[in-house]
Amino acid sequence: MSHDTKVGSWSFEKTSIAEEFDAHVRKHLPWYDLLSDKVADIAAGYLQESGMLLDCGCSTADLAIRMESVLKSRDACYIGVDISDEMIEIANERISAEVYSMNFDISVANAFDELRNKADWYNVVVANLFVMFLPAEDRKHFLEKAINSLTPGGVLIVVDRIVNEGGYLSNVLNRSTMADKLRAGVSTEEIGSKEISLIGVQRPTDPALYDTAREFFRFGDFVGYVFEKPY
Ligand SMILES: C[S@@+](CC[C@H](N)C(=O)[O-])C[C@H]1O[C@@H](n2cnc3c(N)ncnc32)[C@H](O)[C@@H]1O
Repeated sequence: MSHDTKVGSWSFEKTSIAEEFDAHVRKHLPWYDLLSDKVADIAAGYLQESGMLLDCGCSTADLAIRMESVLKSRDACYIGVDISDEMIEIANERISAEVYSMNFDISVANAFDELRNKADWYNVVVANLFVMFLPAEDRKHFLEKAINSLTPGGVLIVVDRIVNEGGYLSNVLNRSTMADKLRAGVSTEEIGSKEISLIGVQRPTDPALYDTAREFFRFGDFVGYVFEKPY
């Protein structure tokens, strides 16, 4: 993948990034498939017969493909939204027309718009590697809206990058993350230029935002949380 090394130049609305996203995310986050299977299993644990699942920032709809059989067997519906036309174009190409018309609705939309007037609507809302790309001041509001949109007994699943706790251990872990990427075959040049392109675009979240959530995953500063809606 060739990278624009300009500070803060990262954008999911570039064809080159969308086309290489599936390979890219697995190289930079070597645990991506393991984590995404876990997200799909947790989602399946809360998805009801004829239920609805919202995937916020779905990119190429990886979750839809992982959950295809459970969605079909429960006659449930997957709604995937992303603000990137380029990502949604690829997502729609990946889902077969027959399955798509039955159980899937994948479109270009802002997750905040999708959550408007949707109280008690979804059994499951997923925000996998999404919140860290929202403006910091919108994140609390997003979590509140997503929880409000859940049916009783529903679940919000968030995987986010959090601000690390500081101290020498954080330095060691940051360096270890670089080493993980090298071991996954990412060049030193690509590691460096991606970090520079993410300045001000991807901002880790204050973990205090997740005080009431339950943790199900942690790798370095990436953490998976679940908010359950009481019933
Ligand atoms: C790292 S990717 C998410 C990966 C994906 N969830 C997965 O599991 O593979 C972040 C995505 O969020 C999208 N995005 C950012 N802000 C958004 C918003 N307000 N509404 C919808 N999508 C958004 C980006 O376009 C990008 O495709």
